This record gives sequence, C-alpha cells and structure tokens, in this order.
Amino acid sequence: NADRNKVYRHSTNLSMAPGSTERLVETTLAAARDELVRGLGGLLDQAVPVKTSPGDRIPDGAVIVGTRDSSSAVRQYTSADDLAPVGDDGYLIRSFSRGTQRFTVIAGNTEAGALYGTFAFLRRLQTHKPITRLDISESPRVKNRHLNNWETVRLYAGNNASGTGGLSGENGTIFNFAATGASAGRNLPVILDRYIVVARAMASVGINGITINLVNADNVYLTAQYIAQEAALADALRPYGIKIALSINYTAPTDPRFAPDTLTNEQLDPHGDEFRGWWNRRARMLRDSIPDFTGFTVKANSEGQPGPQDFGDDHGDGANAIAAAVAPLGMKIYWRTFVYNADVDEDRLKRAYLEFGYIDDERRPDGTRGRFLDNVFLQTKNGPLDFQAREPVHPMFGRMENTNQALELQVTQEYTGQDEMLCYLAPMWEEVLKTDTYATDERGRLLGKRLMGHIVDGTAQRHSDTAIVGVANLGNADNVTGHHFSQANLFAFGRQSWDWTLDSADIAADWVRMTWSNREHVVGTIVKMMMGSWEALVSYQTPLGIAHQFRSSDHYGPNPAERLARDDWSPVYYNKADSVGLGYDRSPTGSDFTAQYFPTLEARYGNIGTVPENLLMWFHHVSWDHRMRSGRIFWDELVYRYQMGVQYVTWMRLTWDSLQPSLDARRFSEVKAKLAIHEADAGDWRDTCVNYWKEFSGRDNPVDDGPLS
Ligand code: GCU
Repeated sequence: NADRNKVYRHSTNLSMAPGSTERLVETTLAAARDELVRGLGGLLDQAVPVKTSPGDRIPDGAVIVGTRDSSSAVRQYTSADDLAPVGDDGYLIRSFSRGTQRFTVIAGNTEAGALYGTFAFLRRLQTHKPITRLDISESPRVKNRHLNNWETVRLYAGNNASGTGGLSGENGTIFNFAATGASAGRNLPVILDRYIVVARAMASVGINGITINLVNADNVYLTAQYIAQEAALADALRPYGIKIALSINYTAPTDPRFAPDTLTNEQLDPHGDEFRGWWNRRARMLRDSIPDFTGFTVKANSEGQPGPQDFGDDHGDGANAIAAAVAPLGMKIYWRTFVYNADVDEDRLKRAYLEFGYIDDERRPDGTRGRFLDNVFLQTKNGPLDFQAREPVHPMFGRMENTNQALELQVTQEYTGQDEMLCYLAPMWEEVLKTDTYATDERGRLLGKRLMGHIVDGTAQRHSDTAIVGVANLGNADNVTGHHFSQANLFAFGRQSWDWTLDSADIAADWVRMTWSNREHVVGTIVKMMMGSWEALVSYQTPLGIAHQFRSSDHYGPNPAERLARDDWSPVYYNKADSVGLGYDRSPTGSDFTAQYFPTLEARYGNIGTVPENLLMWFHHVSWDHRMRSGRIFWDELVYRYQMGVQYVTWMRLTWDSLQPSLDARRFSEVKAKLAIHEADAGDWRDTCVNYWKEFSGRDNPVDDGPLS
C-alpha cells in the first residue's frame, strides 16, 4: 500500500519530474537483484548483502543469478547444453554444495529467463516449498504471453466518462497519458510507482508484453507526442522483460491529426503502396523511439470499427497489408476475430468462422495453404460469443491450421462480477485449455495432441509462434485490481499462459500462501472458496448454458427481458424464452452452428441427449419438462441451480467471517464488504431471472429445494 502515485526519476532526460525520489532500474539483472534483496529481506527479516561477483569462494547460502555471459559462476556451474532446452525465457535453478558451502544458481539463456527464475525461486520460498536439492528446468509452453490493457472507460455504454464503473468498477485507468487536467504533472513520461508495481507483478508470472490501449483505438496513441510518452513507459517496463504494443484503427492514415502525412479513403487500398507505406512510416517512428516495440492489435469490422470490408477487401487483405508493412521491422499483427456482421448469418456464433475460415484454406502460390502472413496472429476469444462465464470453446481453434492463432481470455471481470464479485477464473481457463477439440488432420484422422492447449501452444499443428492474450484488470486502486481476489486472476493468467497444464487449485494455493497466509487452515479454506466461486457465479447468472443475460448499461446485473436495437446484443435473442422452453437451437434442426466443430463435438453438442448439461442451452431449445440427469425436470433444475449459486455466496461470506482472527484487519474488512454486496447482487440475478422465466413456464418454484426469496 505504498504511494502508488509516487514518481520515479526517469533514466532519460524526458522526465526529471519535480519531487522524483527514486531511480528506476535499468537492466533486467538489476531488477532480479532488487527482487532478491527485497524478497529475501522481507521473507527472512534480515538484510541481504549483494555482491556483483562472488569471487572464488562462493559464500555459504549464496544465491547466484545470471546468464552464462553475465556471470563466471553461472558459466562454471551450468553448461550451454544444460541451458539449451530452456530456450529464451526459461531457466534452471540448481542447488550445489562444495565442502561446507551450499549455494543456489539461477540461470537463464537471457536476462529475462534469469528474472523469471528469480521469481520462481522466491515463490518457492514464499509458499514454503523446499529450496534445497533443487534441480529445476522450466520453460514456457507459449511464447507471447501478453496483456491487452483496455482503458477502463466503457465506451459503448456512454455512461462512464469518469472511468468509474464498467469494466473494472472503481478501478480507474492505470497509465496516465492526458496532457492536462487533474493529473497534470503525473502524466507520462513521468513514471509512477504503480507502473513498476504492475511490471513486477507481470514479470513475476512471466507476462512479457502489453498492448497499452483499448481495442476501440484512438489514433492519438500514434501521434509524436504520445509516442514520446509511450517510449518512457516502454523504458520503465523493459527491465522487467515487458515489451509494448498498440491497438490501432484501420483507417488511422486518414486522420487529419497526422497531416501532412494523411491519406484519402481512396488510398486505403491494402494492395497499394500508399497504405502500406503509411503503416511502415508510423511503425518506424515507433521503432525509433521504442526499439523493441512489438506491433499492433487490430479490431477491424467489428462493433462499428472500420476495416477492410468497408472498402471491398477482406480480413486477409487488411491484415496482410499492415503485416507486410511492419514485417521488415520485426513486428507482428494481432488481428482480432471478434466479428459478427449480421449479414453473414442469423446466428451470431457462426459469423467469425465464416469470415475467416476460407482465408485459412486458400492455397498459396507455392502450394502451401493459408493466405495470412506469418507475422499475423488471429486473436480469438475462448468462446464464440463474448467472454460469458461459461461458453463452449470457439470452433475456430483447430480449424485454422494454417494460421497463427492467439487465444484471448478476459482477465478483467466484465461479465464475471467486475470488481464486486469474488470469482476465481482459473478453473474456467483450465476447462477451456483442457477441452478436447477432437481436431483431425486433412485426411480426417484424429490428431494425437488436440486439446485447446495443444492448439494454442503450437504442438497440435506445428506452429512455432504462439500467443495467449489476457484482457487486463489493471487499475489505479491501491490493490491494483479493485477486488483483492481479482489479483488471483492476473496471477493465474500468467501462470496458465506459461504452462496451461497446471492445476488451477495448485495455482490458487500458491496465490493464497503468497497473499494471505501460509497457515494450513487458511490456505485450505480460501482455496475452497475460490475453487467453487466461478461455478457458483455461472449458476446464479447463466446456468445450464443460457447465454448473455446482462443488462446493457453496465454488463453487471441481469436483464433477461431486454430487447435492443441490435438483435444480437439482446438477452431475448439468446434466451428465446417461450411457453415451450428456453435456449437457442444450434443443432442441425436449428442454426446448425454445431457443424463448425470437428465431427465428435458436432455430434455430441448437436444431440440433446449427449450435450454436456452445463452447455445445454447454448445448443438447444429445452422444454420445461425435459428430464435432466439429476432426475429433475428442466424447470426445477434451472431454479435449483440459481438457488445453489446464491447459497454458495452466502457460504463464502460466512466462511470468510470465520477467518477473521487469521487475517489482517484492513484486507479482511475490505473483502467482507465486497462479499456482502456480492451476496445481494447474486440474489438479484436469481430473483430477476427466475421471476422472468416464470412468465413463460407458468410454473412456480419447486417446493423441495428450500425457500427462494
Ligand atoms: C465486449 C466489450 C466491448 C469490447 C468488445 C471487444 O463486447 O463489452 O467493450 O470492445 O468486447 O472485445 O472488442
């Protein structure tokens, strides 16, 4: 809870801010050293001496960190062969004893690898795992582990110019770019403490990139004034192994703010030199100020954003044009597939694959398939709709075998309780990443490795460049994420994008030990609360696969009766409530969306007898009397699920109270206050939805399942 607005003296002369007190670290090994000094000092409660070179006789208890280039001790105790398998970001941690001296070596091929190893070592210590006889070799399964930082203002809701509410509740925007106003003097290039806090948090779980602005991008981020500010931010993040990128608007070249370097609409031809030349010039400007700038995230022809289709071109033309323009600079394009043009199909869920699939299938002149260039990632949300608490996996994963695909997850809890509800998302991501896609090869044979995680980490279809992207929950609250427990989602996102095979309960246990306490009953109790929290939220918000039922004003509370100008934004479009039942028929008797999956899933989802019940209404219009596996009829089961979800929150509230003696007073009471709101709002979801469904089912609450309010 240090002063998050404390300013740093920046290493360049851009920001000799008045009142600067501290210097920023300038190298990754310096960051690793500082983490050890701070971490070991705090955990062991004693000062930790630092030596830049250990000399011939390594002191007993020493921790040596570095690369083979930076450290003779690392050279002496690790070989190039030992280190080769861990790649660019991986690390070795090894215990040695020489006579009476015992010491630990943390080594990477790169300084970033050494930093990740340092954090992993500290994590072991902090979670009370053994730190002797270590022989650890770790490397990430996915190369690009990025955040997308959407500034927290809700643009489409139009109600949050102040940055309060919406995507992250009270938790306002993290990076200050504005040149004037209340925060003047605290704007980039001035570096605030909270940027460093966040950089350390990201690095501690291996996150190595961040797109700093909203996907509905403002061109101001491409102006010279902003680029200077972004360069300062990039300098501050670099020692932590974090590189920056920007979201861009496809028609930025026509923005008069770039005059005289502006194009006309006619010049926005993706095959023409003008369009490509413009993006190359902008990218070079960025590269000149930010040598490791990674590239652009693009939301095109989606939710009113312009794109190549406005000019008669397709996503392949548009993505490849910008990709070709920036390829010589080593940059990449993350082209989002969150598109749902209503002209393409009546069922919103079918639209993205219809717009992208054929481009992946096209033959290149050399006979290989796939039109997208190698420096294009298609960035696809985990499910086919929009970050709902439970969705089936997006059918494009596995279907786009000739294109690099990035998985996009939402860490910020837009649809999962924002910063009011305790909802640990790692079990959802684990469910997603371990879903069997039943992907086949071109001859129809099942792939050996075909879980979502294998598709994403490239092993299923032999992709060497891989990415997972998380929509960030960073803000300027003291605790960064608004709800203390939302920090667990950032932590888990990093850990799972590093290694998607991890168990979400193990990640929760690490987080609880590092955040709250190592006492066994506290760890056991909080992990239990967390592990059921997502399923409970699914249950009281959208049970049994009933999709999007959120009120449009804030995506927090329910409004199942809402009918908006666009069908596919309306809860009624998804629930299709009528006297027969509830849910959207996407089986072959309905929209046949199921045909976009590989055959095994197509058959499983398309049949009401075999579809998993937790996805039931994503695929079927279910009659009120349908017999469920529990033996209850659908109506009774539905009401029961709403009630169970709310009861779980009551249980969490009471359980949290029981932990009071073991927790610090301030954070205990902050979470307690949130749980009270959470319980009331979960009850509102249940009551609003059940009461509305009653109008269609003509039935009352089942009598056996206890009182409903
Ligand atoms: C959601 C969200 C929007 C966001 C969009 C996207 O619809 O509510 O604010 O822009 O996702 O992913 O682009």
